[in-house]
Amino acid sequence: MTRVAVVGSGIAGLTAALEARSAGADVVVLTKAAPDESNTRYAQGGIAAVLSADDSVEAHAEDTLRASSGLADADAVRTLVDGGSVAIAGLEVRGVGFDRGADGARLLGREAVHSASRILHAGGDATGAEIQRGLLAECRARGIEMREGAFVTDVVVSRGRVAGVRMIERGATAEAQADAVVLATGGIGQAYAVTTNPQVATGDGIAIGLRAGAAVRDMEFVQFHPTVLAVGAPFLVSEAVRGEGAVLLDEAGRRFALDAHPDGELAPRDVVARAIARAMARQGGRPVLLDATGLGAAFLTRRFPTIDRAVRDRGLDWARVPIPVSPAAHYVMGGVATDLDGRTSVPGLFAAGETARTGVHGANRLASNSLLEGAVFGARAGRTSARESVREGVDAGSTSLAPELRDRLVARKTAPGDVPSLSRRALQDVMWSCAGLSRDAEGLADAAAIIARWRAVTPAPRTVREHEDRNLLDAAAEIVRAASARTASIGAHWRSDDVPTYDHPEPVLEAAC
Ligand code: SIN
Repeated sequence: MTRVAVVGSGIAGLTAALEARSAGADVVVLTKAAPDESNTRYAQGGIAAVLSADDSVEAHAEDTLRASSGLADADAVRTLVDGGSVAIAGLEVRGVGFDRGADGARLLGREAVHSASRILHAGGDATGAEIQRGLLAECRARGIEMREGAFVTDVVVSRGRVAGVRMIERGATAEAQADAVVLATGGIGQAYAVTTNPQVATGDGIAIGLRAGAAVRDMEFVQFHPTVLAVGAPFLVSEAVRGEGAVLLDEAGRRFALDAHPDGELAPRDVVARAIARAMARQGGRPVLLDATGLGAAFLTRRFPTIDRAVRDRGLDWARVPIPVSPAAHYVMGGVATDLDGRTSVPGLFAAGETARTGVHGANRLASNSLLEGAVFGARAGRTSARESVREGVDAGSTSLAPELRDRLVARKTAPGDVPSLSRRALQDVMWSCAGLSRDAEGLADAAAIIARWRAVTPAPRTVREHEDRNLLDAAAEIVRAASARTASIGAHWRSDDVPTYDHPEPVLEAAC
């Protein structure tokens, strides 16, 4: 029997585990924290799928490609959108309950760049939590082994193919054998000073893939969510709030988003996030305001109960007063490059969800396509990993360099004396300033030199925290390398030294580094 180790317990990992089990594999899920602690759990807006008669998979595909600035891979997008209705049915069969109206029909919301209402939600704005709950319950019911507190440090590669994982479990190092490993650890949000992502999002899967020699692509494309609460700890305010009609105002009460794009608050996320950053720069860095007062107290409480609680916990009444918001790192479009079945370039190694670069997002992800990607491609990766115990790796198009070459390429500018001492916070600040919403060649070179220096002086990690820091450094180095190599602005990759005019005449947003 094929032994499959799934690393990570969000929608992609749990779906992969369930499908691998259904395909006859012996499956273990390895998760470094509690099994329900994942990016999935915090997803609010929902999951996109074509489910109504006045929508079509062609329209969903077109919207996905448009949001991606044309860089998404058409075959991957088609696989994603075609898989939508089956993925939703699969989640419902596994016990996930989406919100329905009085007539029993699923309620469908709207988010930016979607030409139709196609966003399913659960518990109003607790969609990810409901999916996480349902899938975990199903994994338990199916008797899938779940090893909590198992931090995978690397995959074991023997004679050119994956043979298992190395990990730290209950403070001790251990190895577990596997015929196939599925990396599904989510994203890299903790590489940035302000993020919507939970503490666990330390780029583990991407860094493991890099160290195993897997091709990693598109890491320059980091999506910044336009609206997190700017009071207290950053807290996501779903795009669905703008989808329901909330608007953005500057301190003078002006609706500035329309200056950047005719679709205003529902323009692509990268455009809205940059419009907010520019407005903030004009008003001394202070946050802008999200005005949801037109939606009414009863609606806000019913439709967005989680956000409503977070807003009120901060002493704000968003039914009466606009709330302060600012952008935050949210999602990485790049990752470990895979084919349509989750295969990476390393035989036996698979990737799914935010860890993977399937090609569906291009330069900018369409809202609510990430949970769908986790469900559709997690399932494909799970099934394939169970079937294939011996095979060749795929040509996933290598864009990553060996670490020593990367460091040589970038260690050129900053004298060691200029380098701040390494801490996670210092890395987050460097990435926020130099590889954030706006970048330029000089800032990226500074970031590259600092990161290279940190990598050179950091001793081999021993604790989980040290391993996470190394993973963040490895992922950050790749983001900076890719952002330096792509000198033209496109989608979420905004170079202030290359202001595009091809799309819409957006004013300059200077890099902050
Ligand atoms: C949101 O609810 O705004 C986030 C949804 C997403 O990132 O797709």
